[in-house]
Amino acid sequence: MIGIFDSGYGGLTIFKEIEKLLPEYDYVYLGDSARAPYGGRSKEAVTRFSREAVDFLFKKGCSLIVFACYSASAMALREIQQKYLPTLRSDSDDKKRNVLGVIRPVVEYAATRSKKQKIGVVGTRGTIMSGAFEVELKERNPKLRVVSRACPLLVPLIEEHKHRTPEARAILHEYVAPLKKAGVDTLILGCTHYPHMLTDFQREMGKGVEIFNPGKIVAKSLKNYLTRHPELEPEMAKKTSKKQNGSCTFFTTDDIVRFKEFGEKFAGIKIGNVKKINL
Ligand code: DGL
Repeated sequence: MIGIFDSGYGGLTIFKEIEKLLPEYDYVYLGDSARAPYGGRSKEAVTRFSREAVDFLFKKGCSLIVFACYSASAMALREIQQKYLPTLRSDSDDKKRNVLGVIRPVVEYAATRSKKQKIGVVGTRGTIMSGAFEVELKERNPKLRVVSRACPLLVPLIEEHKHRTPEARAILHEYVAPLKKAGVDTLILGCTHYPHMLTDFQREMGKGVEIFNPGKIVAKSLKNYLTRHPELEPEMAKKTSKKQNGSCTFFTTDDIVRFKEFGEKFAGIKIGNVKKINL
């Protein structure tokens, strides 16, 4: 079983692509809506929340968890992978488990696309301040020039359906100005919500700048990872051969009706039963 974790329902846009590409798996989606948004919170808080989510999803039986949230991937993932996961491994429990994020696959893709070796990154304040994209991009190619910009007003504008207003255009125009000035030729939309504004970013940046939907890249990379790590989901081999469809259970830490209604509208998918939990 694969766990998908996000601060709320933004990660549903990534889950949608994962499920499309890998329908044979069973999923558990957890949205920590009661404490969203994560983008303006401290690294300490996001790491604590993410650790609680990891505990919950492992207890539910997941062997692999995907942080479908850029803010959690940027602020909490490394610490959880390097310090927390090793503490969960004991002699009596040799179950294979791992946690993956969304930054690396997107970085791997973008680094191959930029001809001018100038890449722009937009995301929440926490994501940009963490420097995670920059670190990963430079690890791939030290010659890359990375220009990042936090766009903290975009998440609330998108959630309130105000992202196509003249005010939103003016805000976006101001946000991307330094990226345009730097002459980036590739732009990473480093937030679950921004693909809703992909055409607006494209209009602002111009046709010469490549902007892609990261969800599809994350899904492909996950498929590749699972092929290389059959030990994580031994049951899968059986299922795949029968082409059976998996299931998904949704959990939220806040109101279940709101999660279902907003989530379905936001991601354009059908959400079955939603259960409420406290982390
Ligand atoms: N899911 C978050 C991200 O991708 C956006 C919403 C939030 O700030 O929690 O960064």
